[in-house]
Amino acid sequence: MHQLSLLDSVVTPDVAQLRTAELRQLLEHHNRCYYELDAPEISDAEYDALFRELQKIEAERPDLLTPDSPTLRVGGKPLGRFAQVRHRLPMLSLENALQEDEIRAFEQRIRSLLALPDTTTLQYQCEPKMDGLAVELVYQDGLLVQASTRGDGEVGEEVTANIRTIRNVPLRLSGEQLPALLEVRGEVYLPLTAFQKLNVEREENGEAPFANPRNAAAGSIRQLDPAVVAKRPLAMVCYGVGVVETEARTQTELMSQLAAWGLPVSDQARQVNGIEAAVACFQDLQQRRDSLLYEIDGMVIKVDDLRLQQELGEKSRSPRWAIACKFPPRQATTRINEIILSVGRTGVITPVANLEPVELSGVTVSRATLHNWDEIRRKDIRVGDRVIVERAGDVIPAVVKVLLDQRSGAEWELPEPEVCPACGSKAAREAGEVAVRCQGGLACPPQLAESIIHFASRDAMDIDGLGSKYIEQLISLGLVKDSADLYRLTRDDLMQFERMGDKLAENLLAAIAASKQQELSRFIFALGIRHVGERTARTLAERFGSIDNLQAATLEELTSIRDVGPTVAISIRSFFDAPANQAVLQRLKAAGVAPTVEEKRVGGRLTGLTFVFTGTLATLGRDEAKKLVESEGANVTGSVSKKTDYVVAGSEAGSKLEKARNLGVTVLSEDALLAMLANDGTLVT
Ligand code: IVH
Repeated sequence: MHQLSLLDSVVTPDVAQLRTAELRQLLEHHNRCYYELDAPEISDAEYDALFRELQKIEAERPDLLTPDSPTLRVGGKPLGRFAQVRHRLPMLSLENALQEDEIRAFEQRIRSLLALPDTTTLQYQCEPKMDGLAVELVYQDGLLVQASTRGDGEVGEEVTANIRTIRNVPLRLSGEQLPALLEVRGEVYLPLTAFQKLNVEREENGEAPFANPRNAAAGSIRQLDPAVVAKRPLAMVCYGVGVVETEARTQTELMSQLAAWGLPVSDQARQVNGIEAAVACFQDLQQRRDSLLYEIDGMVIKVDDLRLQQELGEKSRSPRWAIACKFPPRQATTRINEIILSVGRTGVITPVANLEPVELSGVTVSRATLHNWDEIRRKDIRVGDRVIVERAGDVIPAVVKVLLDQRSGAEWELPEPEVCPACGSKAAREAGEVAVRCQGGLACPPQLAESIIHFASRDAMDIDGLGSKYIEQLISLGLVKDSADLYRLTRDDLMQFERMGDKLAENLLAAIAASKQQELSRFIFALGIRHVGERTARTLAERFGSIDNLQAATLEELTSIRDVGPTVAISIRSFFDAPANQAVLQRLKAAGVAPTVEEKRVGGRLTGLTFVFTGTLATLGRDEAKKLVESEGANVTGSVSKKTDYVVAGSEAGSKLEKARNLGVTVLSEDALLAMLANDGTLVT
C-alpha cells in the first residue's frame, strides 16, 4: 500500500498546478489579443471565468501563486510605440460582481472590515461602467500637461497629443481654487452613432470594422497620428482621481468638484443609501442601458465616504471600496440559415448571415454581419451552424462564436466569391485588403444605384426628393445609366412612376436642375471617388478651384496636400484616368452641370497667421506640421521677421529661434501648437 501511494504521487500529475500554468498562458494570450492587438478572441465573460478560476485555485493553493501571475496585474504591457509613463499612483482595476448576491457579499465584507454596527447605513455612489479605455490626465496649475493610458496599471503610454483632440477634455481647468497638481482618471469612449458611422466608413474602405465601441476607442487613442484621432468624435468621462489635494469628503462631492473645474463627469451617477438601493439602481440602469448614447457594460458601486475608502484600502489589483457589477452579455444562441452576399456602393461584397429570428435584449435579430472571409475562416463559420450572436453596441449584431459541438455534419462552408452576385463581373481581393470587391464598377447595378443615391444625397448634390426608390426604378427602366442621365430626364420619364403627379414631377425636375450649380466641394464628394470623403472633397475644392484643375493634378501635387496620402492620391488619379469616368464628366458638363466655387474658406482656425518652423519636432514631421497649419488657413514662411506670428521650435532649433526671441515673436513648442489647434486656434497659455 505504501509503495503504491508513493508511486501514485510520482505519476499522478498535480492537476491544479498544470491547470494554473495553462490558465496563466491562456490569460496572457487573451490579454495580448485584447490590449495589444485590439482583437479579442473570447468574450469578456469567458475571460472573466478563466481569471476567476485562476484566482480561486491561487486562493486555495497559495503555494502555486507566483509573482508573475496575471492575477497580480491589471492589463497588457504598453506597445512601446509611445513614450512610457509611470503612474504616480497605480491605476487599479475592479473586482467584478456577476450576480446580485455578490453585491450584497461586497457590503458584508465592508461592514465586517469596518466593524460597522447593524444600525448604520452605508452610502454609495453608483456610476455607469463605461465601456472604453481608461486614461489618466495630469493638470499642473490648471493646464493639461500629460495624458496616458492605463497600460499595465503601473506604466502606460503617453498619449497627450491624442487626448488633446477630444473635445470635452478641457486643456485648461476653469473655476476656482485650482490645485497645483491634479491627476484625474476616466474613460475615453466613442458614442454609439459615431461608432456605427466609423464602421460603415471602414467597411466601405475595405478595412476591418471594429468589433465594439471599446475597441474603436482603444484603437483610436493608440493611433500614432493625432490628426486621425481628431476625426473620431471621442469623448471622455471622469470617474476618479490619482494625486490631488481636495476638500471633497465623498465621491459625490469629488465628482461635483471635477465638474466645477470643467471636467466631464457622468450625468447618470446616483448617490444611494444602503446596498439594496444600489441593487435597485443596478436593475434600473440595466433597463435603461439601451437608451443611452454610449455603451456601458455594468455599474460601479463605490463607498461614497472618502475617509472610509481610505480605511478600507486596496488589494494588489483592486480597491476594497468599489465593485463592478457586470451586465449579463447581450448574447443569444441561434442558427445560420443562409449566408447572403450584399454588394455595396464601392463594390465591397459583404457576407451577411440570415439567422433564425431570436430575441436579444428586446430586439428581434434575424441578420448578423460576418464582415469578411478572413473573419468567416477565423471563426470557422458555416451555413447551418448554431452560433452565439452578440449585440455589442452595434445595431447589426455579430456572430461571436460557433457552437462546434452542435454540428451535425450537414453544415457547409461558403467559399470566397469569384464573381459578383449582382452583376456577374469578376470579384477579387486587392493586395493587402480584407474585402472582396466586385470589379464591374458602374456596370454593376448595386454599385450604380448606390453611386447615384450617393450623388443625389443631401451631403452631395442635395437633389431634394430624389431618393433610393426613384433611383432604383430609373435604373431598372433603363432611363439612368450614369449620373449625367439625371439631367436629361423629362416630365414624361417621371410620369411613368406610380403615384407620380404633375406637381411632384415638376418639383423633382426643378431640384435636379438646381443642383447644376451645386458647390464644387459637394460635386467632388458626389463623384464617389474612393477614399474621398466630405472633408477631403472640401480640401480639394479649395486647393484646385475647378474640376478641370483637379482632373489635371499630378500625384505629386495631390500628395502635397494635407489629408491626401498616397492611397487617396492614387485613387483620385485612377478615377480621372478611367475613360468611363472621363466620359461621364464630359456628359455632366454638356448637360450644364457647372459647380460653383466657394470663396476660400476663411473659417480656418489659423487664418491670416504666419508660422515659421525650426528644429526637429518630436512627433509631427516638419512637412506634416506645415500641412496641418496650412490646412487651417495659416501661411508658412522660411524666415523669421516682424510679420511672423509664431515660431514653432523643436529640438536643436538654431538661429531662427534666436531671431524670434530678439524680435519678440511668440515661440511655441509642438505640444503648444497642438493645444492651440485643439483650442480652436487660440493660444493656450
Ligand atoms: S473606478 C480604483 N469607475 O473599469 C477604481 N472604473 O474594471 C478604478 N471603468 O479600469 C476604476 N467606468 O477603465 C471606475 N465609473 C467607473 C468606471 C470604471 C468604467 C473602467 C475603468 C477601470 C475598469 C475596471
